[in-house]
Amino acid sequence: MNVDEDMIWMRLERRSYPIYFGGLRPICNHPVDGRTILVVADSETAQYSDRVTAELAGAKAVSTWVFPAGEVSKTLATAVEICQAALRLGCGRDALFIALGGGVTGDLTGFAASIYMRGIEFWQIPTSLLAMVDSSIGGKTGVDLPNGKNLLGTFHQPAAVFIETDFLRTLPAEHLAAGMAEVVKYGVTLDRAFFMYLERELELPAALEDQDFLRSVIRGSCYLKANIVRRDEYETRGAVRELLNFGHTFGHAAEVLSDYRLLHGQAVAWGMTVAGRLAVRFGRWSKADAARLEALLAKCRLGREHYDCSGLSAEAVLAAMRLDKKNRDGRLRLVLPTGIGRASIAKNVAADDVLAALREVLQ
Ligand code: GLY
Repeated sequence: MNVDEDMIWMRLERRSYPIYFGGLRPICNHPVDGRTILVVADSETAQYSDRVTAELAGAKAVSTWVFPAGEVSKTLATAVEICQAALRLGCGRDALFIALGGGVTGDLTGFAASIYMRGIEFWQIPTSLLAMVDSSIGGKTGVDLPNGKNLLGTFHQPAAVFIETDFLRTLPAEHLAAGMAEVVKYGVTLDRAFFMYLERELELPAALEDQDFLRSVIRGSCYLKANIVRRDEYETRGAVRELLNFGHTFGHAAEVLSDYRLLHGQAVAWGMTVAGRLAVRFGRWSKADAARLEALLAKCRLGREHYDCSGLSAEAVLAAMRLDKKNRDGRLRLVLPTGIGRASIAKNVAADDVLAALREVLQ
């Protein structure tokens, strides 16, 4: 895939916004004169806050609010704390929130922005690979409940996304690998050529640490995702945006059951592996393609040997999957591949088939 521009537009029916690949410099295209700005960061990403606030000259007031890093913070209580910090700072309806961090920070800040005074503007400045390729774009926001992930949420699009790949240099290797799960997802569900590009590039030693490769996969992933969100912003058009949930129904269940010891990307990689096996079981996908997916995940350090699923049982995963937002009338809906670069929605999937695929991968 050749996406050379320094930015792309997320073109939506009611408004469009830019996704910049040129770091923080393009912030100057969005003057903040006279605005009150709350930067939200976690305890890991607060270190970058000075770099962001240095770009906000002219703002009336800027403050950084920091919460403890980790999925355990992604709660309604933390979203309320963000809103209270905004009130203390004097944020009105013309204020701006900036999410500076990974998926948890982006989802939380976007959620708080969507409810604060009935909704204010926010920007995304993702610092993890996963947030750069997926969660910072497309407007899904949310917080978790003890029962499951993202069970409270809204659609609230950011006003701009600024991707600074320098932040990846300090990202722990495990988190970098986890981000690749969403990249592989785009290849399997949407784009065979992208999948084959990943297979080829990941043959090279240390590809995952190669900044040029990472820049290229970020651009390719954002381009593919923007194209899907443009067609189905609210995930209501059947098998369009819903395809981006490949591996996520299994993955969310595994994340919750592991008490979030599994990283989101690791859980999604595991979920894609199970979904692939299920698709083979249904005769929708060849064994050879499932093996290609698993080999590619292993090259991303996301093979089953790279994380610990030993505490999971098939029955517990199935029970947790029943809370998934995509299910209808209690029937399981799953995204299953039908080729490399193609997928569709399987409705009304029988529990016994799911259990058999889970047992195959968990054994
Ligand atoms: N992460 C899937 C989506 O944004 O639709």
